[in-house]
Amino acid sequence: MNTVSMETIQALMKRRGFVYPGSEIYGGLANTYDYGPVGTELLRNIKNLWWKTFVTKKDDMVGLDASVISHQRIWEASGHVSGFADAMIDCKKCKTRLRADHLIEEYLEKNHETVTKISYPTVFEGNTFESSDQLKNIIENKKVEGLSVKQLNYLVSFLKILCPNCKERDWTEVRTFNQLFPVKLGIVVGDESLAYLRGETAQGMFVDFENIVNSTRVRLPFGVAQLGKSFRNEITLGNSVFRTIEFEQGEIEYFFNPEKNQWEDLFEEWKNMMMNFVVKTLGVQEENLRWREHDDTERSFYSKRTVDLEYEFPFGFKELWGLAYRTNYDLEQHRKTSGKDISIIDPETNEKIIPHVIEPAVGINRLFLMTLIDSYVEEVDRVVLKLHPRIAPYKAAVFPLLKNKPELVSKAKEVYALLQEKIDGKIVWDDRGNIGKRYLSQDEVGTPWCITIDFDSLDDNTVTVRNRNTAQQERLSINELAQFIQTSLL
Ligand code: GAP
Repeated sequence: MNTVSMETIQALMKRRGFVYPGSEIYGGLANTYDYGPVGTELLRNIKNLWWKTFVTKKDDMVGLDASVISHQRIWEASGHVSGFADAMIDCKKCKTRLRADHLIEEYLEKNHETVTKISYPTVFEGNTFESSDQLKNIIENKKVEGLSVKQLNYLVSFLKILCPNCKERDWTEVRTFNQLFPVKLGIVVGDESLAYLRGETAQGMFVDFENIVNSTRVRLPFGVAQLGKSFRNEITLGNSVFRTIEFEQGEIEYFFNPEKNQWEDLFEEWKNMMMNFVVKTLGVQEENLRWREHDDTERSFYSKRTVDLEYEFPFGFKELWGLAYRTNYDLEQHRKTSGKDISIIDPETNEKIIPHVIEPAVGINRLFLMTLIDSYVEEVDRVVLKLHPRIAPYKAAVFPLLKNKPELVSKAKEVYALLQEKIDGKIVWDDRGNIGKRYLSQDEVGTPWCITIDFDSLDDNTVTVRNRNTAQQERLSINELAQFIQTSLL
């Protein structure tokens, strides 16, 4: 486990241009963030790798880019209008608003000792819980997702939870609120029509299913992938970009005929692909990851199985990437609601099929935060982000040893131009301060290679290449430099 704190990561993100608070010069806008010049490169590298791995290089996958503003009936059919709700609770004393499930889970996480000594009641007023075993199970597993408002209210009072902000115990009742963002379309007051900002990218894949089938040559099993913004009116706990109201999702709906493919096999294949992407492609340490199975209370009623790939963030193991077998629930819902014949013909039997789906759904911003935490290392004299070169914001930095020697600057510009042309990724130039400071500055943003052009370079066409992870330096010919760096990105 990496022991870096969120405060340290957040300070680094702001100081070095990864992430800034949104609308900061106007006092900030809660739960919004802007990605700075360095963060934008990292985010883009992660997105490009996700797309390349799951769409470009897979012949059973196609891409989609659906509209963010979407018809209200999509969200009625999907169940989001009636059911996409979070339970919130307010502290009457200090007015802090929290998600009730998060409040309880945080409490259970932090008060492990106290919780083991609880004596459980055997009778539950209003049948809040079926038995003391049911309650004990929930408390010991520290997972309250899927519980009713009544059950959450019971837990807050049974566990005597204090407000984490003011340490008082004076709560409102738990209430639910819908997370969808409504938008009014039209310019005539009173004549606007209601639409929603999408709450997940997934619905695009279902709504466009018929169009995709009719306009391409896809055959089952095949997947549709989408990368894009989703919006949820979330109450967040302030863990930076982990949970925000606007975020980027990478979702796949993998459609198959359950008569021809065993869902259990597809599920295992996707589990392996997800883990491989995080560990091998993004270079994250496997020991900081785990799978968590959803139990019956947590799982949506139409899902046959759901597992989360979780990463150990400084605030505990949390969901990174969900994998669910959603049956053909969504396509059926849209078929019924739209009245359209959403189906695909099996070419062998000529039968119409409403395919089932396996859905891997990841938050790109969570992958981003994970890579920063996972790669953060504090050494005696430096802070270094040991990001895999593949995702590093800058692939190399080029320095002239002295900025007031035109012959060095000119040679360094040649090397810079060469690398810009040959390397797949951003190269940066730095001629400020001394070489030591330039190294430290690049270490903090994870630049794998620093290249210095000195007086020897003018004579023998070689440069000093400094390795970020080891701080070791070696001399390389300029002719082999591009190949050397490009190889490290593979
Ligand atoms: N279509 C299924 C779906 O949207 P989800 O578990 O609600 O499932 C999928 O979201 C992924 O999106 C999560 O695993 C998480 O990584 C990311 N995510 C969800 N809500 C988020 C938020 N408010 N901020 C950042 N990422 C979020």
